[in-house]
Amino acid sequence: MTVSIARQSVADLGGPGSLLLRQRRDHAELDRLMNAYRAADARDTRREQIWRDFTHLVFSHAFAEETVLWPLLRRLVPDGEGLTTQVEEEHQAVNDLLARVERSADDTERQEWTEEAFRLVRQDIRDEEDALLPRLRDALDDRRLRRVGAVWEAVRRAAPTHPHPAVPRRPPGNALAGVPLSAFDRLRDALPTADASARRAATAVGVALLVALAAGHRIRRAANRRRG
Ligand SMILES: [Fe+2]
Ligand SMILES: [Fe+2]
Repeated sequence: MTVSIARQSVADLGGPGSLLLRQRRDHAELDRLMNAYRAADARDTRREQIWRDFTHLVFSHAFAEETVLWPLLRRLVPDGEGLTTQVEEEHQAVNDLLARVERSADDTERQEWTEEAFRLVRQDIRDEEDALLPRLRDALDDRRLRRVGAVWEAVRRAAPTHPHPAVPRRPPGNALAGVPLSAFDRLRDALPTADASARRAATAVGVALLVALAAGHRIRRAANRRRG
């Protein structure tokens, strides 16, 4: 029987450093940031920092799942394909919505898309804690859960921190495009908020790189198909 990881003990989840505890820690932080954003007044300057912390965590967390965890789940679990397709669709929808929020200047639309993205993030957390992660608990012993946790965390620390809806959700396409984009995201993050033109320039370079990488990926796939 599948048991949600939501209320299991540290020992039951593989001990400190286990993938499942790292996941639960990030999910609790995402929940806290969404609540803090909702509670903050629109004129409160801390709201912008809360938003930045939320987007950094939501995208780096999801990228590392798509790169490390879901391919592993598809290998280990018979219904892994269906389970991971569902959460990848949720990740894609969050990417689409938050990319629109970043581009739009209309406060009403931004508010509406933000609420929808928050709803999807909460759904994603439930799907993972109640269905996907318990499957990994069943398939991996404690030592492996800690090892996968360390790899997942290392990828998360180097992952993109902004929405990139055009990046594929599965390897190798996501890693080919996502890893270089992470450098551009981190450059944008390092620029002062007031330096809007420099941030736009960095974004434009990132988008150009993404288009070039996507084209390269398509060419390689076409070449492989011809060879195969
Ligand atoms: Fe997660
Ligand atoms: Fe997720």
